Amino acid sequence: MPVQEGAGAAGAAIRTRRVQATRAAAYDVMLADDLAGSRAEALARLVEGRRVPLVSTPTVGRLHARALYRDLLARGVQAGMMELAGGEVEKTLDAVARVCERAMAQELDREALLVGVGGGVCTDVVTMAASWIRRGIGHVRVPTTLLGQVDASIGIKGGVNFAGKKNYLGCFHPPRAVLVDPCFLRTLPAPQVRYGLAEIVKVGVAWDAPLFELVEGAAHAFGPGGDPAAVRETVWRAIVRLLDELEGNLYEDRGYRRVADFGHTFSPMLESAAGFAVHHGDAVAVDMALSAVLAAEIGMLDRAECTRIVRLLRQLGLPVTHPLLTPERCVHALRETALHRGGSVNLVVPVAVGRAAFIASAGDVDPRALARALALLAATGAPAGAG
Ligand SMILES: NC(=O)c1ccc[n+]([C@@H]2O[C@H](COP(=O)([O-])OP(=O)(O)OC[C@H]3O[C@@H](n4cnc5c(N)ncnc54)[C@H](O)[C@@H]3O)[C@@H](O)[C@H]2O)c1
Ligand SMILES: [Zn+2]
Repeated sequence: MPVQEGAGAAGAAIRTRRVQATRAAAYDVMLADDLAGSRAEALARLVEGRRVPLVSTPTVGRLHARALYRDLLARGVQAGMMELAGGEVEKTLDAVARVCERAMAQELDREALLVGVGGGVCTDVVTMAASWIRRGIGHVRVPTTLLGQVDASIGIKGGVNFAGKKNYLGCFHPPRAVLVDPCFLRTLPAPQVRYGLAEIVKVGVAWDAPLFELVEGAAHAFGPGGDPAAVRETVWRAIVRLLDELEGNLYEDRGYRRVADFGHTFSPMLESAAGFAVHHGDAVAVDMALSAVLAAEIGMLDRAECTRIVRLLRQLGLPVTHPLLTPERCVHALRETALHRGGSVNLVVPVAVGRAAFIASAGDVDPRALARALALLAATGAPAGAG
């Protein structure tokens, strides 16, 4: 960029040298299979020659991460191990500071790689710590929850809760790699599986009909005694299709019209109205059901398609209604969301299974249709016209 000279308000010359740069990101999301012994092997190859402190939580440590740590040591990797307290309440600056303190005590160099082994809470904290240490060191994510594998770990964001606000502080810090192994899911409690399935259904409904059909056919595969091959297929497709969508706007600086926001307009209101006693995955399911029934009510979605969507949610054990979801709160949520999305609500509604449209302005959402949709879901828990 050329140096420019111009006149300031007071007439004094102002010299300007504009700086312009773009942020790149390149990383691999990989599907490993511990049954085939490829998990530790793949990680060892990824981190070759570097110091790699593993960061996990006690439950995941006991079930998986300590074994992975021993496996790495046995392969000659310079691994370390630390465990943070788990849980959403522990997703704090304090947790990030503990990781940073440990990195300092271990005199990690800039080539070191933090490895987060755990759910979204763990990988979010590790991403934050990696972005801060020496202004940014590398990190690898090994997600162990379904939500982590298909959502939280595959993008480039990290974050912590602050002063009561979820993810108020955060960063964009791409991982070096993400190693997904659905074998971890075998120890995952049923509700955690459900939460991940909600995010998979989101992708299926909003832009990938074949994924929706995969989940319809594999609803029981995720339960005890389920079908590992169907789980792997579904997880991998969900990952690839979400990445297809995220890739063009990884830093979220290219507009606010994102189909990936399907299910994420009314849900933040529900989560906070419930004091976070309603899990994000359940809240997303309720939001998706409401958006679908609303779309049917205003003639944007065929009623049979709407029925299919709500039926699948219920089949997966996900809720489709909640008493805290009142018309007033929903209207308020639309306004709040518009603030968050640069002035327009851009409510994502399905127009078919696998295809979505945006309702740009909160004012375009007919409050009577919204109230009818809420009442329908509340009365029967079933989709509009299901009956
Ligand atoms: N960075 C992002 O882009 C992004 C996207 C979506 C969500 N998130 C964040 O992710 C977090 C939620 O993640 P989560 O749902 O994974 O929750 P989580 O990390 O709290 O894990 C849920 C529970 O599962 C346990 N667990 C993890 N793996 C297990 C396993 N294999 N077997 C048995 N138990 C296991 C954990 O100990 C924990 O109790 C939220 O804080 C959310 O804000 C981040
Ligand atoms: Zn979500």
